[in-house]
Amino acid sequence: MLIFAIESSCDETACAIVKDGREVLSNVVFSQIKTHQKFGGVVPEVAAREHLESIGPVIKETFSQAQIKPDKIDSFASTVGPGLVGCLLVGMNAAKTLSLVHNKPFIGVNHLHAHVCANFLDSDLEPPFVCLLVSGGHTQVIFVKDYNKQEIAASTIDDAVGEVYDKVARLMGLPYPGGIMLDKLAQEGNPHAFKLPEAKVNWDEFSFSGLKTALLRLTQSFEGKEMPVRDICASFQERVSDTLIKKTLNIADKFNCKTIVCAGGVAANSELRKKLFALNEKGYKTYAPKMKYCTDNAAMVGSCAYFNPIICDNSLELEVFSRG
Ligand code: KG4
Ligand code: ZN
Repeated sequence: MLIFAIESSCDETACAIVKDGREVLSNVVFSQIKTHQKFGGVVPEVAAREHLESIGPVIKETFSQAQIKPDKIDSFASTVGPGLVGCLLVGMNAAKTLSLVHNKPFIGVNHLHAHVCANFLDSDLEPPFVCLLVSGGHTQVIFVKDYNKQEIAASTIDDAVGEVYDKVARLMGLPYPGGIMLDKLAQEGNPHAFKLPEAKVNWDEFSFSGLKTALLRLTQSFEGKEMPVRDICASFQERVSDTLIKKTLNIADKFNCKTIVCAGGVAANSELRKKLFALNEKGYKTYAPKMKYCTDNAAMVGSCAYFNPIICDNSLELEVFSRG
């Protein structure tokens, strides 16, 4: 089954063609990062307009890379939420239009479920497994019992990890989105240079606001002096990755589950991946999406449309939603 998928929930205009939920035939991502960098974050109205301008060329490029004609596609899919409403509307309306023109079904997809499905791309992973989902908007541990059966086992009570990465990066004067740059600098620093606090919360909760405040104080203490940016980044990264992996492992053990995966933009983080893969030596089986499928992309939407679509009577009546 060939699915043409669109992702436009935030600042990436992306399309992909995916076969049977696992094989990526083409994957095109147009990032708006340069546009939003000068504002220090995503401006929803600007993002929606850019999606409108780039969606046509991205669709064309995706068919051309796969060398597949639209009449060979079995279904057209798009993310319908959660995300920025104006942005989601562009992708969803494009996918619905393609489905009407080519007389094929439209499939709506939940963005968070799509991040989880990134793990099925080019891989043999099968449920059940525990997934640590870490993105710019969410931090959750999900028990995936079956392809379309998920239970949220833990979530953040304040900021999402990606959000904290971006805010801490900004404290150190790094450009938006700071996560990737902070990760790079952290690899050159001493992870034990600064002792940073770990939130005392329930086993099914994450909290990062205390860590964020500690980082604010730490950076302020260097005012007028040279800031040891690499050591601060490394110490922050060590605290975050240690907390995320410890909690996920604890939950996997509670569910008696030996397969652990991660997903979302922060799943591209070098230290988090290292700590996750190190669990293989303790008898766990671990998976992480390829780097290009961690941050927002449409291949994961194509996989999700196959494995875990939004079920409804008439998908053409689906509306976009901002939170979920
Ligand atoms: O999943 P994603 O592309 O968008 C959302 O659905 O939110 O995640 C974006 C987030 C941003 O906060 C970005 O800074 C973070 O993922 N990120 C990283 C890395 N690469 C992207 N955070 C830490 N280390 C990275 N290597
Ligand atoms: Zn995302």
